[in-house]
Amino acid sequence: MGIAGGVGSRLARLLTAAGDRVDGLYRRHEQGESLKADGINATYGDLAELDASAFADLLNDTDVLVFAAGAGGKGGTRAVSAIDGAGLTTAIEAAHLSGVRRLVLVSVFPEAWRGLEVSDTFEHYIDVKKKADATLAATDLDWIILRPAALTDDTGSGRISLAPALVHTQIARDDVAATLAELVHAPQIRREILELAQGPDTIRDAVSRQTLS
Ligand SMILES: NC(=O)c1ccc[n+]([C@@H]2O[C@H](COP(=O)([O-])OP(=O)(O)OC[C@H]3O[C@@H](n4cnc5c(N)ncnc54)[C@H](OP(=O)(O)O)[C@@H]3O)[C@@H](O)[C@H]2O)c1
Repeated sequence: MGIAGGVGSRLARLLTAAGDRVDGLYRRHEQGESLKADGINATYGDLAELDASAFADLLNDTDVLVFAAGAGGKGGTRAVSAIDGAGLTTAIEAAHLSGVRRLVLVSVFPEAWRGLEVSDTFEHYIDVKKKADATLAATDLDWIILRPAALTDDTGSGRISLAPALVHTQIARDDVAATLAELVHAPQIRREILELAQGPDTIRDAVSRQTLS
């Protein structure tokens, strides 16, 4: 989910280039054309309108469900609750219905921007994201919760820090997508909450370290 987004589209292209089959939803026609041109099985649809059964129908032969969708600033608190909150719950139900064991959630540092004056909408967003993390962590799925620091559109450096607790800094969407791709291909990493920020390690080394820990 979120295949047309900043992180999701980068991930979809990386996985497709690596030979994986990638499916996902898009909501604007130009997104669909661009995704399909890159060999991605993009389907027109709105997550907010899918029930678990309809979502599960999209998961045929899926090994890993990556949830990188989010309402962002658009649509206010109601959209955040519907997508980042209820949308994730629907994804979990769909994973159970379809037998998908692995679900990777793109979340956020719960203490992001502490010390700054943030809006009620932002507080609501953090609250919904934290509850979504807790909902997923309580399931019996092989989940990973990846919490990136503040996202940028800078060109990825390929260098990160990945650990259960980090200081909140920044990370390029390129590097988030590359880390997700590495995690998707590391089924031995499961039931872990990992924070992600710019750092000194290669993505492969940082992910391998989680395998060993
Ligand atoms: N911004 C940050 O600094 C930051 C930091 C840490 C974590 N995060 C989290 O990282 C995630 C990914 O970030 P991003 O930059 O890739 O976000 P993004 O570009 O806004 O991508 C989110 C995607 O979700 C899709 N989406 C929203 N509502 C939908 C719906 N009803 N049905 C189907 N798709 C829907 C959007 O579709 P449309 O393109 O049609 O709108 C968009 O493609 C977000 O969940 C965010 O919470 C963000």
